[in-house]
Amino acid sequence: MSDQINPLTPVDGDRVLSLCHAQGLHEVAVQSVLETESTNADAVALAQKGFTGYQVVVAGTQTAGRGRLDRQWTDQGADSLSFSLAVHVPQIVPAENWGWISLLAGMAVVNVVRAHGVDAKTKWPNDVIVEEAAQAGESEAAGQPYLKLAGILSEAVDGYAIVGIGINLSAPREVLPVPTATSLAAEGGTDLSREAILAEIVVEFDRLWLDWTDRYGEATGGLDASYADTSATIGSQIRALGVGGEESSTSIEGTATAVDAQGRLLISQQDGAEIAVSVGDIEHLQHPDS
Ligand code: BTN
Repeated sequence: MSDQINPLTPVDGDRVLSLCHAQGLHEVAVQSVLETESTNADAVALAQKGFTGYQVVVAGTQTAGRGRLDRQWTDQGADSLSFSLAVHVPQIVPAENWGWISLLAGMAVVNVVRAHGVDAKTKWPNDVIVEEAAQAGESEAAGQPYLKLAGILSEAVDGYAIVGIGINLSAPREVLPVPTATSLAAEGGTDLSREAILAEIVVEFDRLWLDWTDRYGEATGGLDASYADTSATIGSQIRALGVGGEESSTSIEGTATAVDAQGRLLISQQDGAEIAVSVGDIEHLQHPDS
């Protein structure tokens, strides 16, 4: 955990539960702990035993928070929100389409964060960002026109999806672990109660989840367009690094045009070739409208 402003306290799990119930979501259980290594690891262990509905594990702080591609995730205690949401994936959803689960989670975070006054976007595959204005800021100095608000790490175990979400809530930018990170408070967000934001994300995820699973895991019927609406990546000039897997140094540049049924990013290269990428780090080279 890095510097924090608010003292470390647990998230009030009963409050989260009653907020979910008040918003019509009942099939949910919440486990709140003050400190754990990783809520994803805890949710994986619960999934291995099995449950129905949604299982949320939320931590005041994590001592070994996991990020994508074996990176670490550092939280700011009560100035951040660290939780995992686990759910059984119906068998009618083909395994090759599970890549969409992270995208649904990103949409849920963006939709909720926007309701709290922050114009966030998804950055394929797993980030939630705010784009910076044209003037050079920290992020542009680092070669990227955006700041990261939240990260998502999805894992699969025994037919369950574990969606881990870490959001920077109320920390000032100076205390965040990297200069390219920001928080909801730093971006002018309002009403940043951990309990309320957590419940709203779970409820919003459930709305998207039902839509997607009702379509047998096909992101059709407007879901794909809604995702594109949240996306800072689609329409951007991008560089995709490590597209051949974790150890790969292969990179490609082009225009991100869409996300396919499997959740892969489609990149149109200058020679007209279109490539579908399922893993990698994406750099946005310019704003879509610049
Ligand atoms: C990333 O940006 O690389 C993904 C970060 C995901 C962090 C969250 S915090 C809650 C959950 N538990 C973890 O160990 N990781 C995820």
